[in-house]
Amino acid sequence: MRKEILEQLQTVWAGRPWLHFETLDSTNEYVKRLAGKQPVHGLLVTADSQSAGKGRRGRVWQSPPETNIYMSLCVEPEFPADRAAGLTLVMALAAAEAVQEVTGTRPGIKWPNDLVLGGKKICGILTELILRDNAYAVVTGVGMNVNAGQFFGELQETAGSLQTELGATFSRAQLIASVLKYFEVFYAQYEQTGDLTFCRERYEQSLVNLGKEVRVLDPRGAYTGMAEGITNTGALIVTDETGTVHLVDSGEVSVRGLYGYV
Ligand code: BTN
Repeated sequence: MRKEILEQLQTVWAGRPWLHFETLDSTNEYVKRLAGKQPVHGLLVTADSQSAGKGRRGRVWQSPPETNIYMSLCVEPEFPADRAAGLTLVMALAAAEAVQEVTGTRPGIKWPNDLVLGGKKICGILTELILRDNAYAVVTGVGMNVNAGQFFGELQETAGSLQTELGATFSRAQLIASVLKYFEVFYAQYEQTGDLTFCRERYEQSLVNLGKEVRVLDPRGAYTGMAEGITNTGALIVTDETGTVHLVDSGEVSVRGLYGYV
């Protein structure tokens, strides 16, 4: 895979340097260990399998060998750390563009950053902050189910892969190179403008929650409402049954669709 990715890489900085491992505990954890000691803007870490793949909210990310993408990209932003959360939506959009480019099918995005095909989650993103002296870095980890043929246990209901949903296998190297290409372009725009104005419309076109009822699991009290779109900083706009508009921040609450996974 190493040679293949290098041949396809069209970026200036994203994925340079790039480290590939047969197996790691977690590509995010590897980047965190390295970036905690030295600046590594652009570093990409990929693995063929992970022994302790991490999902959001402390969940496990199943990471069987050779079939899927486990990648983590590190950036050292010029903008303040409170803007870093937006990068997770930037990465979701980059991954959606890459899936469309490589497979010809555009996936949906379930806010904030899951990719969905055929009602199944095919990609998850975990963004973490790394603090180092007076600087900070951000690691954005992407787990994309590419050629996995089946899922076990409770994942059977909710998870899918490009292979299960589209009935064909795809090159992981091509997908990784494409994700990096789009991310690099979007990152430059995000850095320049400081928010998601540049891609809000495109993001909302793919947003599977748009115009649908969602259940917001706010620690101060859960409520149900209609998802209306996102703000320029990436919060989900939800109008509840009383007409009150909530701006839902991904860091604090989780949102469930009322109909199956979406
Ligand atoms: C989610 O729960 O939806 C996020 C899943 C993120 C998984 C990826 S796989 C590569 C990187 N390394 C990890 O341990 N997690 C992320």
